[in-house]
Amino acid sequence: MSKVALVTGGMGGLGVAMCKSLAKDGYTVVTTYSGNEEKCKNFLDTTKAEGFNFKAYICDVSKYDSCIKVVAKIKAEVGAVDVLVNNAGITRDGQFKKMTKESWDAVINTNLNSLFNMTKPVLDGMLEKGFGRIINISSINGQKGQFGQVNYSAAKSGVHGFTMALAQEVAKKGITVNTIAPGYIATAMVMAVPEEVRNKIIAGIPVGRLGTPEDIAGLVSYIASDASSFMTGAEIAINGGQHTM
Ligand code: CAA
Repeated sequence: MSKVALVTGGMGGLGVAMCKSLAKDGYTVVTTYSGNEEKCKNFLDTTKAEGFNFKAYICDVSKYDSCIKVVAKIKAEVGAVDVLVNNAGITRDGQFKKMTKESWDAVINTNLNSLFNMTKPVLDGMLEKGFGRIINISSINGQKGQFGQVNYSAAKSGVHGFTMALAQEVAKKGITVNTIAPGYIATAMVMAVPEEVRNKIIAGIPVGRLGTPEDIAGLVSYIASDASSFMTGAEIAINGGQHTM
């Protein structure tokens, strides 16, 4: 039986490429979506026409109960999760002086609290199996901060704190926990940045272009594989040289 990979936000800018890459590696790939049925149908139809067979479950990753329920459902219908990619994320950009409590909460709940909500129910199954890969998607802006993203930078920075601590707790159990920190990738999220601002950002990327979702998906596949078993607690940047640590 093939291993099960769960990619949260798998219909989003980076998620689709991750799902495809993991499916090509032989995983049974399951994704979550937040409730847009039309987007879900479109994703399933389009990928099916390309030869993929993804399963999609509605789930609000910002809500613990929703995650508990969906993980139980996936376990019953597909199997226990071997690879968890905590990928779902949102932005609510704006200077801190104008930031509302609502936009702070939305970003922290979706981008950081989701890691607790989703990893907690999945981890028990990984501990039972003595195998697991938890891959947390952070951001260059969690590493360097970004004007207009106090909420997002705080959440994404927290993602790697989660990774480093959990990695130590489960290291002897065959489970690895790692962070990927993508830079600016050509997705709708980045395209929503005003063109003038975006062009200035691109001018600051030494490679001279935005990244592609496949640039990130390739690393997800590697970390999911057995070949990466000595890598844990790590944060890998993929940002075209925009920020080096
Ligand atoms: N450094 C210094 N000043 C900056 C600045 C920067 N990087 N960016 C904008 N400003 C200044 C402008 O020059 C302007 O100053 P003046 O008022 O003196 O002219 C002011 O900020 C703009 O203020 P506004 O009131 O018009 O704008 P705002 O408070 O609504 O915020 C913004 C504007 C939303 C921050 C906009 O500049 C923006 O979208 N910036 C890009 C943010 C960004 O990079 N987001 C990443 C999204 S993609 C993503 O998150 C994926 C990932 O992981 C990489």
